[in-house]
Amino acid sequence: MRLLVTGGAGYIGSHVALRLNELGHAVTVLDNLSYGHEWAVLGGNLIVADLRDRLRLREILAEGQFDAVMHFAAFIEVEESMSLPLKYYRNNFVNALGLIEDCVEAGVHRFIFSSTAAVYGLSETGRISEDEPIRPVNPYGESKAMVEKVLRDVSATSDLRYVALRYFNAAGADQQARIGQARAKATHLITVALRAACGVLPRVSLFGTDYPTPDGTCVRDYIHVADLANAHVAALDYLNRGGTSGAFNCGYGHGHSVREVLDAVKQVTGQSFEVVETHRRPGDPPTLIANADRLREHLGWEPEHDDLGAIIESAWRWEQKYQSGEFG
Ligand code: UFG
Repeated sequence: MRLLVTGGAGYIGSHVALRLNELGHAVTVLDNLSYGHEWAVLGGNLIVADLRDRLRLREILAEGQFDAVMHFAAFIEVEESMSLPLKYYRNNFVNALGLIEDCVEAGVHRFIFSSTAAVYGLSETGRISEDEPIRPVNPYGESKAMVEKVLRDVSATSDLRYVALRYFNAAGADQQARIGQARAKATHLITVALRAACGVLPRVSLFGTDYPTPDGTCVRDYIHVADLANAHVAALDYLNRGGTSGAFNCGYGHGHSVREVLDAVKQVTGQSFEVVETHRRPGDPPTLIANADRLREHLGWEPEHDDLGAIIESAWRWEQKYQSGEFG
């Protein structure tokens, strides 16, 4: 199939684009390289363009005659979204709206959207199902929820069908360490901890120890990026089978606390590092654990890498390569 992958030079997008390419699809990556990297596009054709450039976007869609569009391009930092909400609403919402509009105009019938567990906010149940209320507690989650709302309404009135994949905490790297998290400034827990383990960062700040969780630190459902890539393949197959539009959680259904993750990083790397307990980070819900039954039952997805140690190992292999500069 001919596929357009926006944000395909970024962390999750590059892993999905690579997987799609390996499966024989013709992949075009559209990325403005604000956070993505040219070297991370393996096997696909990269177009460096910005979603704000609607004329260019329409040209790309008209030339590409895409069977499906996967939309990853977005800002992803919860804390930053608290202080710079407009940055998030403009890129994550306004640019997505433009893309959806242009897809409908160009006759694209299948759309796969990178959504997030952050659309749920403060869940009162243990494992969050897709039927829980959408009540984001930060502009990042809100911007994604707004796109989902647009997709619902547009799919009801056009030929566009969509799957929104609500990622829980994406982590890990390509098994062959060809690509992985590659941001100069790390904010995600596992990457921060790995950088502390290899001495690039002096310490890890642990944000909040007074949450209503078993050990007082936040609990997250860490999902291997390779399993996320497979969820996108399953979503594409589902839409090809005529599946109806909807949102699907992507996670394993169990979580790990921040303390557990830090201990696991120390164990996998064999390195110790300083952990400084500090105040809560704004916008962090205490617990986010997926009920991913719908993904398994409707999309036929099965996790293959549900193991925190293995996730950290893959990220560690990549991180060492990244820090040594021997990549790309
Ligand atoms: N944390 C620390 N120290 C750090 C970094 C993180 O204690 O240096 C804590 C956070 O406070 C949080 C947990 O580790 O409790 C996980 O934080 P991450 O930044 O790794 O991930 P988030 O849960 O904030 O967010 C991620 C994605 C979002 C997505 C969300 C859904 O960045 O895009 O998961 O679960 F919405």
